[in-house]
Amino acid sequence: MMLSSYLLAQSIHISTKNMSLVLNAQTGKELKFVYFGQKLSDQDLNSIEKTEAARFAAYPAYGLNCTQENALSVQHADGNMSLEMAVQSVDKKDDNHAVTTTITMKDKVYPFYVKVNYKAYKDVDMIETWTEVNHGEKGIVMMTEFASAYLPIRKGNVYISHLYGAWGNEGKLVCEPLTPGVKEIINKDGVRNSHTAHAEVMFSLDGEAKENEGRMIGAALCYSGNYRLKVNTDESEYHHFFAGINEDNSWYNLKKDEIFTTPALALTYTKEGLSGASRNFHKWGREYKLANGNTLRKVLLNSWEGVYFNINEEGMDQMMADIASMGGELFVMDDGWFGVKYPRKNDHSSLGDWEVDKTKLPHGIQGLIDAAKKHGIKFGIWIEPEMTNTVSELYEQHPDWVIKAPQRDLVLGRGGTQVVLDLSNPAVQDFVFGVVDNLMTKYPDLDYIKWDANASIMNHGSNYLTKDNQSHLYIDYHRGFEKACQRIRAKYPKLTIQACASGGGRANWGVLPYFDEFWVSDDTDALQRVYMQWGTSYFFPAIAMASHISAAPNHQTGRVIPLKFRIDVAMSGRLGMEIQPKNMTENEKNLCKNAIAEYKNIRPIVQMGDIYRLQSPYNHIGISSLMYVTPEKDKAVFYWYKTEHFVNQHLPRIPMAGLKADKNYKVHELNRIDAHPLVFEGQVFSGEYLMSNGLEIPYNHRVRGVQPDYSSRVLYLEEVN
Ligand code: GLA
Repeated sequence: MMLSSYLLAQSIHISTKNMSLVLNAQTGKELKFVYFGQKLSDQDLNSIEKTEAARFAAYPAYGLNCTQENALSVQHADGNMSLEMAVQSVDKKDDNHAVTTTITMKDKVYPFYVKVNYKAYKDVDMIETWTEVNHGEKGIVMMTEFASAYLPIRKGNVYISHLYGAWGNEGKLVCEPLTPGVKEIINKDGVRNSHTAHAEVMFSLDGEAKENEGRMIGAALCYSGNYRLKVNTDESEYHHFFAGINEDNSWYNLKKDEIFTTPALALTYTKEGLSGASRNFHKWGREYKLANGNTLRKVLLNSWEGVYFNINEEGMDQMMADIASMGGELFVMDDGWFGVKYPRKNDHSSLGDWEVDKTKLPHGIQGLIDAAKKHGIKFGIWIEPEMTNTVSELYEQHPDWVIKAPQRDLVLGRGGTQVVLDLSNPAVQDFVFGVVDNLMTKYPDLDYIKWDANASIMNHGSNYLTKDNQSHLYIDYHRGFEKACQRIRAKYPKLTIQACASGGGRANWGVLPYFDEFWVSDDTDALQRVYMQWGTSYFFPAIAMASHISAAPNHQTGRVIPLKFRIDVAMSGRLGMEIQPKNMTENEKNLCKNAIAEYKNIRPIVQMGDIYRLQSPYNHIGISSLMYVTPEKDKAVFYWYKTEHFVNQHLPRIPMAGLKADKNYKVHELNRIDAHPLVFEGQVFSGEYLMSNGLEIPYNHRVRGVQPDYSSRVLYLEEVN
């Protein structure tokens, strides 16, 4: 059936279980976009061929349609700035998981080619699209625009939801109507690309986005570098959506026979609202993108907020003993362990000198790994391989390895000395690969690496690239980064690697194929995390979102939040701790110990389950609530966070979602601190009741007469007969 509808006249039907994308591909003519949305029947497919206008090019190119926005724009070797692309052939490749359709186009005059690819997954509603550009012209073709994809979206009442933010405030959500003019979401950091904006968006077609209903298009650009997402709302019936590499200061000189491949744009469509689109991104992400997406993550303690740079053997041993005693499975030693000539005492020096500082750690890394073994846990370590400081042996030996323009002074970053290594240079790629490879060769028992990146490209200039190709810096940096990552993954597929980039600077599906998780933010304040994790969960699954219990007062906000609330928030992601356990009371340690034990039980539901966001903190009605449900819908975890505290406050009751209406579920509260169990503890309710009414959650905790201002609940639901 697939084949017959696929070949229908000149129509190309690209489909997943619930989605269709239709193109018109007449040989010798421009490739046209016809339809994207809900899956079409053969009948509908037949009819829309006659009724849909197919007005827009599927991959518009500049030159003969100059008044419109385009995806591709070049200057040919002879100076001509126009393109006229015509379909040459259509090919289809079927692998186990997906069918990839490739439409090859050739310019009508020039030996200039574009392949447009669509990879449609069989078991998840996701289509990835990207292009490959090449030519046989005598000389260089200069590419000035090279989007990955274009999608027309029918006007109506379309809203765009996207994430913005800053250091310490990543993943903030905004949902706004698309109005006439151009809406651009861009990144120019050069290294990290998800602090100030995100390369993913959702379009709700039926007005302001709702969590669990409404037609929704989701789009995620899978790219680690600078990007541009653009929606042009012009005088036509459509919004015109483009996504790809940010071309600013990055025009590309394409040599004869060189293939320029754009990063993939992943597209999904659902009728189940924002959460429905998130479930599609999460499933696709875990199955096909995220490193080790089907392996449960360990509960860890990271040393950063506990000791910062004050690493020493005794301190590390104490932290390992403490996390082991609370049931944790892994200890990660953060920054401050390295540097021989220039010991890393603060952020002013030593990046690049990845030799252990024996004054701090006389028995070296092996000593710590042995200690971890003794405590029955695994050991992990922090590195920042793409960077150096001007105060380092690496910089002394290779001053030409840093990104810098000739004749200009260095612009210095963190600590007044940090600079970025030039990953366009293969020698630097070898070095970066070597940072991980040397550690893993010497210490094969290392279980986890936190890979940080704390600087932007501030100086445009490469010592490696030729003077004609200086504009390739941003693109070649990320090609180099990807090559190094690919080598690491080929050799160490099972190693857990966290993408940290001054917090949440590397939450992107172009990064995550090489990383198991990312650090959501350097801000560990549980209240602010409710907001950040909410937004981040639009596109990324809980298994990838590192979420740590930290100290009170919080080190970033100074806010004092009860441990119970801090635990409950961290437990909605990949649970960890980032605290000095030495400073915790026995009571606090016991709460954490209990929470870790509870988390281990619900871990498969949180990390592998389907998300249903129920009440947004951005609605500012005093509560935020979400839940995870197993694919079988037999188990679920429900989270409820009070985000404001007033006397005699009236909060809404939260209907649940994602359960089976006709099945019964038993309710059990996790992380209980109240003297008495909830009235519904152990009670059984139908899915229908829970999804129509929810449960009446008490607004406050009752702990020996005290009603602290923060309250939160975690409920475990299990199907019973
Ligand atoms: C960055 C990271 C932090 C920590 C420090 C160490 O800021 O985001 O988590 O690792 O570097 O210097």
